[in-house]
Amino acid sequence: MTYTYDQYQQSAGYIRDRLGAFAPKVAMILGSGLGFLGDVVEDAIAIPYGEIPHFKASTAPGHKGRLVFGTLSGQKVAVMQGRMHHYEGYSYEDVSYAVRVLRLLGCDTLIVTNAAGCVRTDWQAGELMLITDQIKLFSESPLRGENLPQFGPRFPDASHLYTPRLQQLARKVAASQGVTLREGVYFYCYGPQYETPAEVRAARILGGDAVGMSTAPEVIVAAHCGMQVLGFTLLSNMAAGILDQPLSEQEVLDAAAAARETFSSLVLGCLEEL
Ligand code: HPA
Repeated sequence: MTYTYDQYQQSAGYIRDRLGAFAPKVAMILGSGLGFLGDVVEDAIAIPYGEIPHFKASTAPGHKGRLVFGTLSGQKVAVMQGRMHHYEGYSYEDVSYAVRVLRLLGCDTLIVTNAAGCVRTDWQAGELMLITDQIKLFSESPLRGENLPQFGPRFPDASHLYTPRLQQLARKVAASQGVTLREGVYFYCYGPQYETPAEVRAARILGGDAVGMSTAPEVIVAAHCGMQVLGFTLLSNMAAGILDQPLSEQEVLDAAAAARETFSSLVLGCLEEL
């Protein structure tokens, strides 16, 4: 299905009516482990996805499926508590639909977080990575189909999907908090099966540092419509084949719980400095 500009506007219009005078500036898509930040938004107005025209529900475990508007670290935010994934059966347009709606509501910045497998053998599970770029070669683009010029051009430049200025800000905040922040390329794999060891080796050869099943589509759409993007990965596990043990969702959730304090302080610190 191709969404029309009218549909994006209808979604934004519905939300605008619910928000009254509040206008968000920073959109946040929080992955495994950081969804709780949506619960600490001040003066929160929460809208379940199911109530918003044209929105799809999120079915992934640990993803609440609602938008929370309010103030966080002094910024006016729109927090997506739970994202949609392609592996849930949604198209890439569905997955990134909310980003355009949040853009219409006035958000000019997107912060994305996720959990992903660590491809590099010289890094460790549990570490945090600043996303400097991404690879999404083996699946279609969320921009496929008729272009909506109200959002951006047909052939958008993708040289800096992740805004260099925000990367610099993240480095500064990490240093001030004494947090080790790795930097690398997020290699998108659509899942839901974890990668094979051969796929992980291929990702490494192609320049990936982390492998994960989210984020890349939303970031393409955000950059297309002129948003500044900042992205972080929690390296929740060593990617398949690196350690002699099977991967499990429990391992990812445990790592997310363990990193919760450090990860949320880093994200909140960056938000404050925006
Ligand atoms: N691969 C893909 N997605 C993931 C992983 C992984 O190893 N860990 C957490 N999300």
